[in-house]
Amino acid sequence: MYISTSILSVEEQNSTKTFYNLEEAKTDYFHIDVMDGKFVENNTNEKMLNYCNIIKQISNLPLDVHFMVNDVKKFVEEYIKFEPDIITFHYESCSSDEEVMELINYIKENNIKVGISIKPNTTVERIYKFLPYIHLILVMTVEPGKGGQELIPETLEKIEILRKYIDNNNLDTYIEADGGINLNTIDSIKNAGIDIAVSGSAIIKSENYKETIKKLKM
Ligand code: DX5
Ligand code: ZN
Repeated sequence: MYISTSILSVEEQNSTKTFYNLEEAKTDYFHIDVMDGKFVENNTNEKMLNYCNIIKQISNLPLDVHFMVNDVKKFVEEYIKFEPDIITFHYESCSSDEEVMELINYIKENNIKVGISIKPNTTVERIYKFLPYIHLILVMTVEPGKGGQELIPETLEKIEILRKYIDNNNLDTYIEADGGINLNTIDSIKNAGIDIAVSGSAIIKSENYKETIKKLKM
């Protein structure tokens, strides 16, 4: 299982040092939470553009970009320059299946892996038809919009259903979970069958990043 550290709650003043320390602590990815002030209330775009610039100067670790935005294409264009490993957009941002497929193809044409994210109230069955075309499905374990929330237990069942479906159909799509993942909730989420855990405040607010990441991976 991989750890993708959400840098949403990293403070501006010592951000460079924090990113350096996270790499030292062996995070597998930097998770970049891009919010547009429309799909969700908060707007984090300026901050995330700034943070991506800093990270690209000091690290070769892969960027796991999570768009919580309405106009996905516009944001893909804005983030291509950072050469993200993965770009994930929300199923709920799209108004038709055709639009979902267009975005999948557009991201792939740019040599970037594609993820689709679903909010807690969207059932996993909705995205089954896209699984053969994408690399990752991001199951939100909180309502998107801010860090530091509590994991919604009902979302674990969705991950279990998805795990079975992916295995039974011999797909290799990764399952990522995001929101409220800390040392108390990691075991239940791991047992549900994820490949990548996103963790923000549990890592950033801890004394020792290395210890926390190690314990989350255990
Ligand atoms: C929520 C974001 C998450 C979140 C993770 O909208 O997508 O990535 O910030 O932070 P924690 O781990 O604090 O829930
Ligand atoms: Zn996220």
